[in-house]
Amino acid sequence: MKVLEAKFVKQFINLCFEGYQKGWHERNGGNLSYRIKKEEVESIKENFTYQDEREIGTIVKDLSNEYFLVTGSGCYLMNVKEYPEENICIIKVNDDGTKYQICRGLKNGGKPTSELPSHLMNLEVIKRRSINEKRIVYHMHATNVIALTFVLPLNSEIFTRELWEMATECPVVFPRGIGVIPWMVPGGKDIAIATSKMIEKYDAVIWAHHGMFVTGSTFDEAFGLADTIEKSAEILVKVISMKGVFSKEQTISRENFIHLAKDFNLTLNEDVLKICK
Ligand code: 13P
Ligand code: ZN
Repeated sequence: MKVLEAKFVKQFINLCFEGYQKGWHERNGGNLSYRIKKEEVESIKENFTYQDEREIGTIVKDLSNEYFLVTGSGCYLMNVKEYPEENICIIKVNDDGTKYQICRGLKNGGKPTSELPSHLMNLEVIKRRSINEKRIVYHMHATNVIALTFVLPLNSEIFTRELWEMATECPVVFPRGIGVIPWMVPGGKDIAIATSKMIEKYDAVIWAHHGMFVTGSTFDEAFGLADTIEKSAEILVKVISMKGVFSKEQTISRENFIHLAKDFNLTLNEDVLKICK
């Protein structure tokens, strides 16, 4: 099968465009990765030619010998739909999880996203603890989420509570909450370690003054999670613009969340519930 005919490739390309249309991918902002299933690799591997090995910049032993579809560094997600072969690539991780080889794509040269260490370390965590086969890691520069990192305390529980309160569907969509990490230099091992630790515990991770990482078992689920969080952030930005931080007239209370959890059979993050109003 031709690479561009594979369903997962089409869905990957589609998510890049959907995110771009949302305004989350100015210039080369944001990136996407997918851990390719064995049978999917089999169906397209006749098209692969392997380049030299390069360092990942971290170790992902549990992903050794696996294949990934990733966006290219410096590539504009806006262009992925029209020029996929120039802007995305398939890589293979080596035996000991320290290096990768490009085996398809980026046909004018280049390398995978600078956030490859964060993507692969997150993919490793979700592979380890995956109940429903999460294989997608998506990083976007969501405007309202970023705006909130300038006015809310950079505390995972407070961020989660504030976003849960903004729409009744939020605790249903992200019951484990959202992790927040303070500003760090992007593109390296340190931020990858900090993010992947958060992915053990939370549904999504916010990078202060930068953007957000989400995971998903389908492309729709990853996009839907980002969209839900960004929408509740937009509502909160509007509420703060009208009323100021932490000065709502009324909100969804702890008692309301407990009631919701009972009826929707949710296990809500206890640390967040404890600080609800
Ligand atoms: P890349 O172009 O290397 O993917 O970087 C974009 C980005 O958002 C960095 O955090
Ligand atoms: Zn970024």
